[in-house]
Amino acid sequence: MTRIKAPGLFFALAFAGLAMFSGSGAVSAQTIKIGVVSTFSGPAANFGEYSVKAMQLYEKLHASELPAGVKIELLVRDDGGPNPDKAKQLAQELIVRDKVQILAGAGFTPNAMAIAPLATQAKTPFLILNAGASVVTTKSPYIARFSFTMAQSAAPLGSWAAKKYKTAFTLVADYGPGVDSETAFTSAYSASGGTIVGSVRVPPMTLEYAPFLQRVKDAKPDVLMVFVPAGKTATGLMKGFVDLGLKDAGIKLVGPGDIVPDEELANMDDGAIGVTTVYHYSAWADRPANKAFVEAWQKEYGTSTQTNTFAVSGWDAMDAIFQIIKAGNGVVDGDKAMEVLKSYKDANSPRGAISIDPETRDIVQNEYLREVRKVDGKLENIELETIATALKDPVKDQMKK
Ligand code: PHB
Repeated sequence: MTRIKAPGLFFALAFAGLAMFSGSGAVSAQTIKIGVVSTFSGPAANFGEYSVKAMQLYEKLHASELPAGVKIELLVRDDGGPNPDKAKQLAQELIVRDKVQILAGAGFTPNAMAIAPLATQAKTPFLILNAGASVVTTKSPYIARFSFTMAQSAAPLGSWAAKKYKTAFTLVADYGPGVDSETAFTSAYSASGGTIVGSVRVPPMTLEYAPFLQRVKDAKPDVLMVFVPAGKTATGLMKGFVDLGLKDAGIKLVGPGDIVPDEELANMDDGAIGVTTVYHYSAWADRPANKAFVEAWQKEYGTSTQTNTFAVSGWDAMDAIFQIIKAGNGVVDGDKAMEVLKSYKDANSPRGAISIDPETRDIVQNEYLREVRKVDGKLENIELETIATALKDPVKDQMKK
């Protein structure tokens, strides 16, 4: 509101007055507008689709908890993938023209980085639903992250892998989250006695991994750690890994859960069996809160579709948005909303207990060691153990030491 010139402010207030006193004379329905900028087309189309479906489901199931007369409107925009300029333009329109009170989304780190200054300028809370590079939350005090950081999974994975495999190769998408994955894995793996025998960075959205995987095969590591963006890129990587004979050569494939997205397992063949990952969520986790989440999801969207990381981010973010709206009794103030977000906790998320770290505004969550297994003829990510409990972003934790 601070940047609106006087005539605009006059009309905004006049309009608000009309809205408040229209109808029967009682305060009429008030709509909280939430702008979602995420990816709904191309190889990462699942990112936005699952998050929004989960937000809508949460809203439907919890609508009665909102203050009387308050409604939520989701304004959904497609950035098409890692396109910072497009994401920025969409967020700008949502803030200035549509006057959203809250922003959510950002499947990709570069898009989150591009939106961050706008969130700061407008004092609009911005809930990250996927982007995973550690730096993201440092770019605006109005950002809170409901997804993960890459280091949250890559660091415990590196320590675990060093105990089982002597030599490792890393292959990562060549941008923020890939570099974070490589760095966190490499330092944890090396600190626990493993030897890195090679590393390669690949174009972020490529579907063709053969030339890079050939280099890995030639180096004959015991284990290959991969980060490529979830979605069709992950399925392309898996195909290359099997087709080029790395699996047959006995190279163990590990990574953050992004390389075996829950919703993409149906598009991967048995070559994915045995892939070991660390992640904060699996659709097949047997926590009661997850069972209830999956049941509600399948009741709404059908049993042939299941939840995934984008869905759990959308679900938890909507829970936090409800807390913001309830705390403000239907009025969203950016600074007050950030106070709510900084003390946000949910002991019963489908992914386990979560909270927002008040210092960094990153999510604090468990990480699970998982393995792809075939259950009743279908591939599933099976959680084997909780490998880290209430883990903060290791990168920011390290910086404080
Ligand atoms: C990101 O750009 O931060 C990102 C994208 C896809 C993922 C994880 C992180 O699977």
